[in-house]
Amino acid sequence: MASPGDRLHTRVVHAGSPPFEDGVAPVNVPVVRTSTVRFASEAVRASLHHRREAGEPVSMYGRHGMATHRALEAAIGELEGASDVLLAPSGLSAISLVFIALLSPGDHVLVQDGVYGPVRERVEPLLTRLGVSFSYFSASDGVPAALLRAETRLIYAESPSSFLYEVIDLPALAAFAREHSVLLAADNTWGAGLLYQPLALGADIAVQATTKYLGGHSDLMQGAVSTSNPQLARTLRDTHDALGLSVGADGASLALRGIRTLAVRLAQHGRNALEVARYLQSECSAVARVFYPALPEDPGHALWRRDFKGANGLVSFALRQASREQASAFVDALRLFGIGASWGGYESLALVAPQSRLREHSYWRGSEPVVRLHVGLEDPVDLIGDLRQAFRHVLQ
Ligand SMILES: Cc1ncc(COP(=O)(O)O)c(C=O)c1O
Repeated sequence: MASPGDRLHTRVVHAGSPPFEDGVAPVNVPVVRTSTVRFASEAVRASLHHRREAGEPVSMYGRHGMATHRALEAAIGELEGASDVLLAPSGLSAISLVFIALLSPGDHVLVQDGVYGPVRERVEPLLTRLGVSFSYFSASDGVPAALLRAETRLIYAESPSSFLYEVIDLPALAAFAREHSVLLAADNTWGAGLLYQPLALGADIAVQATTKYLGGHSDLMQGAVSTSNPQLARTLRDTHDALGLSVGADGASLALRGIRTLAVRLAQHGRNALEVARYLQSECSAVARVFYPALPEDPGHALWRRDFKGANGLVSFALRQASREQASAFVDALRLFGIGASWGGYESLALVAPQSRLREHSYWRGSEPVVRLHVGLEDPVDLIGDLRQAFRHVLQ
């Protein structure tokens, strides 16, 4: 049985809290802004240099971060169940770090076809230029055995997937990767660590855009890469160092602040989103399909129940017999939902999913336009009222 203080929600509230000094301590971790680190002596500097060269995350310079960064790494480590966490200036830079650190010319990578779009649009061209080849697999087809090559070094997945929330069988993918000595990395931005823990399910690396739910207030760009494999941690850290990836102390402090309230925010996002998803299901003359794994009708529901501890505020839906122009007019007619490409903040957002992204994602072959909602912390009655008036205004 877990002892007091052992449960995840408790640990993320307290991880990295400052120790007492002279009997007192602030509740929050101080924001340690610095470029320059001073050393008590040359001997101390030499010893720290030696430890850093051996792979320890000690700070010799502002780029390495200081107390605020160490506290944030500790908190993300709790969320992901990871021994090592590397911070990056955005979610995309965290993803790129994984690819650049682990792949060399001649290597091959297998990427799930529903991943965050810029993996295909930005990371693939960069890595292709460096001699890495890419194949995309459909998670609906099970493990990608037919696409595996002798040069395959990495499988990269995201569960649930972007826009359509296809839940994948990560433990099965992890077993397949292990059997073939291939590394498995997973984007865990949707699950944020509290709802999903890819490392516990067998992945070697978890990536998060902490920009989203960890930040939680739409005022932060940041990413994190987590692992519990010391050898991988060393490889990632060396590349992180070479790229000079650095996160400001103010940003680290904002992410820590967000983490302290993550559990209550996510629970409310999940409750509100479920109400909105149920409402959308009831609008069957206008809505062809609702994508939300917490709905019992969602094809990923059983896997979601098995592997996840909850759902977040992302809900997508396909509009029945509507043109793309009507979908845009629907989004324009929303008053409470802002139009925005991000998610994870306290506010509700909507956009029309890019058709090109949907075409690349084999999970769903419908041709209807898809609207993605991020359901925020407003009262769901008001959110549903806003959706209802937009349907009336545009489609009915
Ligand atoms: C699933 C997922 N991963 C990664 C990212 C990239 O994060 P960032 O915008 O911080 O670069 C995003 C951004 O939307 C995302 O949705």
